[in-house]
Formats: sequence, C-alpha cells, structure tokens
Amino acid sequence: MDILPSVVQDQISQLPLWLQSHIERSREVALKLANLHNIDETPVDLAISAHDLAKAMDGSDILIEATNNGIVPNFVEMERPELLHGAVAAIWLKKKAGVDDERVLEAVRWHTTGKKCMGMVAKIVFLADKLDPDKIKKSPWLGDIELLANDNVALAIRRYLEGRLRYLLNEGELIHPESVEFRNSLML
Ligand SMILES: [Fe+2]
Repeated sequence: MDILPSVVQDQISQLPLWLQSHIERSREVALKLANLHNIDETPVDLAISAHDLAKAMDGSDILIEATNNGIVPNFVEMERPELLHGAVAAIWLKKKAGVDDERVLEAVRWHTTGKKCMGMVAKIVFLADKLDPDKIKKSPWLGDIELLANDNVALAIRRYLEGRLRYLLNEGELIHPESVEFRNSLML
C-alpha cells in the first residue's frame, strides 16, 4: 500500500472513528478493485483515503465552503448540501494538500453522486465507497454489485445506480441529476 501524504494522514486522524474505519475498509476494497482491473494504485489510494474528509461537517458549513470556492449548488445540492462533501474534500486536497492529479480530484469530487464520463480512478473509488463490507452487511443487495465489480466496473456501477435510484424514488427522496446522467451514460 502506498504511503499517503502526511497532511492527508493528519486530517484523517482527526475524523470520527466510525469514519476512519469506513475509510480503511473502503481503501482495501479500492486497492483490490484497482489491482483486478489494472488501474494505477497510487491515485486510487489517495482518492479513497481522502474522499470523506468533509463527511463529518455540518451541511451548512459544507454549503458555505463550497460556495466560497466557486461552486454554484444546484437545487438538489441546496436542499441536501451533504451531497457536496466530496466537492469540499476535493477543494481542500487541491488548496491545502497541493494535490493536482485531476484523476484524484475528480474521484473525490464526484464519489457520492457519480458523474457522466468520469474516469476509471473515479469509478473504482465510487464503487469502493459503496462496497464497504459494513454497508454490504446492512444492504445485502450490494453483494451482487460486489461480485459484478470484480468482472465489469461499468455494469456494476449501472446496477448500483439503478438500485439506488429505485430506493430514492420509493422513499420520495430527491435525485441528483448527475446520478441520472451517469446511469444513462453507462448504457451507451
Ligand atoms: Fe465514503
């Protein structure tokens, strides 16, 4: 496993323990998927390690941080500012940790909703976040996605998004437009 920049390690060590544990479990999943699919481990490891650095922030603080850094929230993000925690983490990574690898920044920025045409590093990170073994225990349908992810990343993401969108519809929840775009793009 690659050594993370110390500034990122310090930041992770200040997160709540439940979040540190999730990051550690997701990291193992991400590195396994990166190896299986011959994706460069270094950007995957940095992105999955940093993806939830802003997850524990209040929604109102997330919104302030995002807008102060030039992000114009859409309607769904205004209503559910926690959806921007990846964006805030990506801003921190770029400004405070000096990360300029666009593969890493994209993966962190879009790990919650996904985004049309995102690259393989981002796709691996997207899946690894959802395939934390603790999440699979709580939502057994994710076990099928885990199996699929070993063979076909795009199909695994498509099936995941379809399950997630169904869930959100059933709950009467808002749906982020990028998740719909992302799902449709995977049908092409
Ligand atoms: Fe996460």
